[in-house]
Amino acid sequence: MNIDPDTRREKKVRLRLVKDLGVLVTGGAGFIGSNLVDLLMENGYTVYVLDDLSTGKLENLERWSENGNFRFIPGDIRNPLDSILTSSKMGGGPPIGTIFHLAARVDVTTSFLDPEADMEVNYLGTLNVLEYASRMDVRKIVFSSSAAVYGDTEVLPVNEDISLDPLSPYGLNKMASEILLKIYKTQYGLDHTILRFFNVYGPRQDPGNPYSGVISKYMNWTRNKEPLMIYGDGSQTRDFIFVGDVADIMASAASSNFVGTLNVATGKENSVIDLADAVEEVGGNQLKRVHLPERKGEIIRSVANIAKLQEKLGPFEPVSLKEGLRQTYRWFETQPEQVVH
Ligand SMILES: NC(=O)c1ccc[n+]([C@@H]2O[C@H](COP(=O)([O-])OP(=O)(O)OC[C@H]3O[C@@H](n4cnc5c(N)ncnc54)[C@H](O)[C@@H]3O)[C@@H](O)[C@H]2O)c1
Repeated sequence: MNIDPDTRREKKVRLRLVKDLGVLVTGGAGFIGSNLVDLLMENGYTVYVLDDLSTGKLENLERWSENGNFRFIPGDIRNPLDSILTSSKMGGGPPIGTIFHLAARVDVTTSFLDPEADMEVNYLGTLNVLEYASRMDVRKIVFSSSAAVYGDTEVLPVNEDISLDPLSPYGLNKMASEILLKIYKTQYGLDHTILRFFNVYGPRQDPGNPYSGVISKYMNWTRNKEPLMIYGDGSQTRDFIFVGDVADIMASAASSNFVGTLNVATGKENSVIDLADAVEEVGGNQLKRVHLPERKGEIIRSVANIAKLQEKLGPFEPVSLKEGLRQTYRWFETQPEQVVH
């Protein structure tokens, strides 16, 4: 199941890339990447996906596997990209004009357990993308950064200009990647937009993936009528954004001349308890709630100021949390049951 086409039709996606050039999506088999690939393919672009399938799945891309404009290139972002993106693997397709860099290890907790692996994928991976892009005349890179670069800030809603204070190796490697992008702009003129995603949710977020966000787990537990686990007292807040909106914003960022950093969020703050209530309502089940100890490095409050996003990329009407949860739940109902902890 894909994102409800009505949601997309109502919005005018600002996607204007040069059609003679290809688009590379690193991490394109993953949750956000595959939703972006759908948008690019639906608009007639040639899309290369580079992914090691460590958390991504080929089934997320299945509908494009026979399409002549689509190429899946297996590979590890820790290696130089010119050794992966060979002309034979690119199947005689056009050179790459735009790179959406999403490949990453996506979890704060595991970044403490294996900080070296986090650095290799999340920082060295970005360096490899930039090295390739600067040599191959790529026009623009859109980088998926994270609200984790801010840390537990007192300034709320958080705007892009406050000083960064990440609380985890994951946040640190995203911050270091952002700085690298700026260096490659200054030194080599390579354009970029850095997008700091807040909490993204929607179809294809895998609840079985230990790195996945709270909404996919709550959906799964609700569907299976299992208790909802809540870290701490559940008063911690998040800014939840639907994955279809994130794909649209990435497309707009790639199509615009804007170079710099933007929050990708709705500007609305919801507590984990609010979320548990909303998921129960959508799923039609009232469930037991189990409180667990707070997690290391967890941010207490998170909500974004999205004025700059609207100023630079145009007006943005996010999908409401209720509507996003409804679409996500419909997708969950098509999925096999999973036992998730
Ligand atoms: N989901 C969120 O709420 C969220 C929030 C902030 C930032 N982000 C960022 O968005 C991006 C996408 O995240 P997602 O939620 O879709 O996660 P995901 O795990 O579904 O996607 C990551 C993809 O990268 C691939 N990958 C991982 N290591 C790789 C490697 N060494 N080489 C090649 N491919 C590799 C995985 O197989 C997967 O397909 C990430 O950069 C993440 O840091 C996500």
